[in-house]
Amino acid sequence: MESVRIGLVGLGNMGRAHKANLLAGKVKGLELVAVCDLPPALEGVEEDLAKFTDAGEMIASGKLDAIHIATPHPFHCDIGCKALEAGLHVMMEKPLAVHKAECEQLIAAYKDKSKVLAAMFNQRTDPLYRKLKDLLDSGELGEVRRVQWNVTDWFRTQEYYASGGWRATWRGEGGGVLLNQCPHNLDLFQWMFGMPSEVHGFCNFGRYHQIEVEDDVSAYFRYPNGCNALFVTSTGEAPGVNRLEVVGEQGLVRLEDGTLHFRRNRTPMSEFSNETPSSFTQPEVWDTTIPVDGEAGQHLEILQNFTNAILHGETLISPAIEGIHSVELANAVLYSAWQNETIKLPLDSSAYKSELQDRIDKSTFKKREPRKTGGASADDFAKSF
Ligand SMILES: NC(=O)c1ccc[n+]([C@@H]2O[C@H](COP(=O)([O-])OP(=O)(O)OC[C@H]3O[C@@H](n4cnc5c(N)ncnc54)[C@H](O)[C@@H]3O)[C@@H](O)[C@H]2O)c1
Repeated sequence: MESVRIGLVGLGNMGRAHKANLLAGKVKGLELVAVCDLPPALEGVEEDLAKFTDAGEMIASGKLDAIHIATPHPFHCDIGCKALEAGLHVMMEKPLAVHKAECEQLIAAYKDKSKVLAAMFNQRTDPLYRKLKDLLDSGELGEVRRVQWNVTDWFRTQEYYASGGWRATWRGEGGGVLLNQCPHNLDLFQWMFGMPSEVHGFCNFGRYHQIEVEDDVSAYFRYPNGCNALFVTSTGEAPGVNRLEVVGEQGLVRLEDGTLHFRRNRTPMSEFSNETPSSFTQPEVWDTTIPVDGEAGQHLEILQNFTNAILHGETLISPAIEGIHSVELANAVLYSAWQNETIKLPLDSSAYKSELQDRIDKSTFKKREPRKTGGASADDFAKSF
């Protein structure tokens, strides 16, 4: 195979951006041949692309080697399973699915390992996160004692939530900031620090917006080695901040504003003494800004990697099967907030599924219609993926 013929499902904010990139030839070896959406979204689509209004028909058409699923999350699992069963390579948008049981279903459908199943965790291409992961994996920072990530720069307006009926509803999305914006951060979290053993979530539902789901979250993660982690996020704060602090045996790393700063202990934490006469002085550190080269290739890099994995066996940057972890974290935070108790992982996926279903069934919430003029539109956020 010299090139991969791909079909794209969902021509909204994300899908349109992918379509434009693929048609501009920005991913070598990946040829967009078909698209699928509801009829209004297909109007004006390029003549030479095959058009479908049903993903199953596109999958069965014989025109594709691969599919990219960019629909709202509740359709991810079903379309992904159908595509895998039909022998296609699959690129999933984040989140992998709405809840852990769907992720399990998708992973179970992935039987033919000669096919590539990848997920769009584009922030894994950011050299700052890659460098921090290197520091952790190489042991340079030592055992991790504490992590604190304040990621409150996901500001969204009410118009954004009103821009799609599915957004910020239990039925249409299965959650708010945890399911839409934070899959990236939660994926990076588990990629760098692994999965905690316990989760306690504190969520405010519709604190800043007229929505039924969470837009303000403080979560506590406890790791088997006693490491404590805090994850704080919101779509209502402005100005927000994106500051990640990691305290390890060898010092403190802070990632903020494009800089990775390391306060390296001159003696490891475990060797600090509280008994010596100089115990009132702070242990000494070296202060360094770690040089980080390169640019984040983001969505294009993930798509190129997906194509290279299909054509040349390149190792995936973000295998989709790892996407279950960020969904499990998001679900566990919500479940903990609903129950007001600490949740032990692994999360009981069927218990969570029925709790979510209960909220879907009982929801009577009506979102406000978008204003006719003024305010931001969803397109304003297209660059903030
Ligand atoms: N990786 C990223 O950085 C990133 C960024 C934005 C969105 N996303 C993800 O992409 C997905 C779509 O988000 P969006 O903002 O583009 O949404 P959107 O509402 O703008 O677009 C969704 C599109 O899917 C179509 N659609 C809905 N159900 C369908 C179905 N069954 N078959 C075919 N088409 C269907 C809709 O008509 C619409 O055109 C979400 O899962 C979101 O989390 C990922």
